Amino acid sequence: MNRLDVKDVEKTFHEPDGSKLQILLHIILTIHEKELIIIKGPSGSGKTTLLNILVGLIRPTAGSVYFNGIDISQLNLKQLATYRLNHIGYLFQHWNLFPFLNARENIEIPARLQGLTQSSRNKKVEELAASLGIYNRLNNRPDEMSGGQKQRVALARALINDPSFLLADEPTSNVDAQTRTNIVDILQEKRESGLGLLIATHDPFFEELADKVYILENSTLTIIKNNTINITGEIRS
Ligand SMILES: Nc1ncnc2c1ncn2[C@@H]1O[C@H](COP(=O)(O)OP(=O)(O)OP(=O)(O)O)[C@@H](O)[C@H]1O
Ligand SMILES: [Mg+2]
Repeated sequence: MNRLDVKDVEKTFHEPDGSKLQILLHIILTIHEKELIIIKGPSGSGKTTLLNILVGLIRPTAGSVYFNGIDISQLNLKQLATYRLNHIGYLFQHWNLFPFLNARENIEIPARLQGLTQSSRNKKVEELAASLGIYNRLNNRPDEMSGGQKQRVALARALINDPSFLLADEPTSNVDAQTRTNIVDILQEKRESGLGLLIATHDPFFEELADKVYILENSTLTIIKNNTINITGEIRS
């Protein structure tokens, strides 16, 4: 069973004036497959920083992240890239699409890196694009798309390799209610087939469906909703 464990993670940034900015303190968090975990918290509280640490894009000052028991800080760059490519889909807060590639080319990057043939890539890209309502934008570059369309292109790219976990930073911040329902439905469907989700969001739609909701504030992660407590009152670890 896939799991991601964050153990005693801390993060301090060094400011240009030499001072230290403590963002995360003793963060402990576990995500199992099929779970939906929400993190909310004020702007600047460290949600994106925590997601970046889970993906291995930035290193924590202390503590570790474990994927199925493997400490990702012990991986070399190639192993880290493989971990991301095969197991983690990441929807960046600002999408990070390549401006000179069209939507199709952006979405298929992880599948290309995984060595999929062009016909299997096309099939996967087109299925995802159709389900996310962006099929008719596949030949357009990011500057020819709306914010909500770019967000869905970035989401399709995060899902193309059927990751074990999706980390999504505000996945519905730029879409209308209908598109949001559509995105939530797709993620729920993937969740049923095993996807674990960690989402930074304030969207109440996700909160209702979540197994656990945390708030990140003053460098600390506090649980405010837990649906995984079983009948005997035990908390699943
Ligand atoms: N590389 C960096 N160097 C210094 N400070 C940083 C760096 N990256 C982020 N910060 C600071 O760390 C804090 C947390 O930033 P982060 O982006 O994680 O917040 P957030 O909770 O995602 O906010 P938002 O809701 O606005 O997206 C902020 O004060 C930010 O300015
Ligand atoms: Mg953020």
